[in-house]
Amino acid sequence: MDHDLESLLRSLRVWDPEVTELRRFDPADAPGEPLALFTDWFAEAVSAGQAEPHTVSLATVDAEGLPDVRTVMLHGADAAGWSFATHDTSRKGRQLAARPAAALGFYWPVLGRQVRLRGPVTRASAAEGAADLHARSTGALAAALVGRQSEVLGSAEELAERSEAAWERAAAEPEAPAPTWTLYRLDPVEAEFFQGDPRRRHVRLRYRREPDTWVRELLWP
Ligand SMILES: Cc1cc2nc3c(=O)[nH]c(=O)nc-3n(C[C@H](O)[C@H](O)[C@H](O)COP(=O)(O)O)c2cc1C
Repeated sequence: MDHDLESLLRSLRVWDPEVTELRRFDPADAPGEPLALFTDWFAEAVSAGQAEPHTVSLATVDAEGLPDVRTVMLHGADAAGWSFATHDTSRKGRQLAARPAAALGFYWPVLGRQVRLRGPVTRASAAEGAADLHARSTGALAAALVGRQSEVLGSAEELAERSEAAWERAAAEPEAPAPTWTLYRLDPVEAEFFQGDPRRRHVRLRYRREPDTWVRELLWP
C-alpha cells in the first residue's frame, strides 16, 4: 500500500459544518465550578450524537519524567473527582504509584469542544473499586480477570486461553474478585473548557482551584 500521507493530511479539515455544530459559548454564563459545566457539556455531547464521549485520554508521567498517554473509559465525575479504572500493575498503574498525578483530555468533535483536567490522583478503596467493577458488564469483568496488562505477550494463543477462562469465570461468578483492578480518582486543580469558533476565536475558559474557591479566567487561543 502506497499512501501519500502529506496530501491526505492537507485534504482534511476540522469542524466540517456538515458534521460539526460550533455552539456559542459565553463564559459569563458558566457555573462557578467545573463539575457543573463538565456535566452540561457531557450531556450536550451525548445528545449531539458524539460517539463514545466517555472515552478520554489519560496522561501520566513515569519515574524518569517521560510522559505517557492512552485512552480509558470515564467511570464517573463527582465532588471527589473524575474516576477511571485500570490494573495497578499495568504501566500506567506503576506510573501512578510513582507519581500520583495525571491529566485527562476529552475531545468531542461534533461540538468542537475539548475539556482538559489536571491534578493529583488517588486510589479508591478496594471495596469501592470492586463494587464499580461488579456493576459493569460481564465483558468488563472478564477483561479485568485476564490481568497481566502491559506485560509482554508470548503468543495470541496464550491470551485466547486466558481470556476464555476469564469469560467463563465472569459469567459463572459475577462477583469474582479482580485483585489488581483499581478505581482511581483525579481531583482537578485545573480544568479548561475549549469551545471552537469558526473564525478561530476559540473560547478557552480555565478554572483554577484556590483554597476556598475556583478562579475563572479566559486564555488566549
Ligand atoms: C476506547 C478504549 C477504551 C479503553 N478503556 C480502558 C480502561 O477503561 N481501562 C484500561 O485499563 N484500559 C483501557 N483501554 C486500553 C488502554 O488504552 C491501554 O491500552 C491499556 O490500559 C494499557 O495501558 P498502559 O500500558 O499505559 O498501562 C482502552 C482502550 C480504548 C481504545
